Amino acid sequence: MIICNCNAISDRDFKKVAENSNASIKNCFSALGKKPNCGRCFTSINDIIQNVHSEYEQADKIKKSAA
Ligand code: FES
Repeated sequence: MIICNCNAISDRDFKKVAENSNASIKNCFSALGKKPNCGRCFTSINDIIQNVHSEYEQADKIKKSAA
């Protein structure tokens, strides 16, 4: 699904770049070689970044509890 209409960037594209440890909205656009325009997509991108990071945290907890 397209999240950023200005740049035709999908949620999958943002998820891939959000997997970088220093992911931020600005870094996501840079990693995709795009620049933000209107900003209407920022909330959705932020949600994607937070979801990716909470998935990592949960995986880390499981990993630690199994060790
Ligand atoms: S919809 Fe993403 S910058 Fe406009």
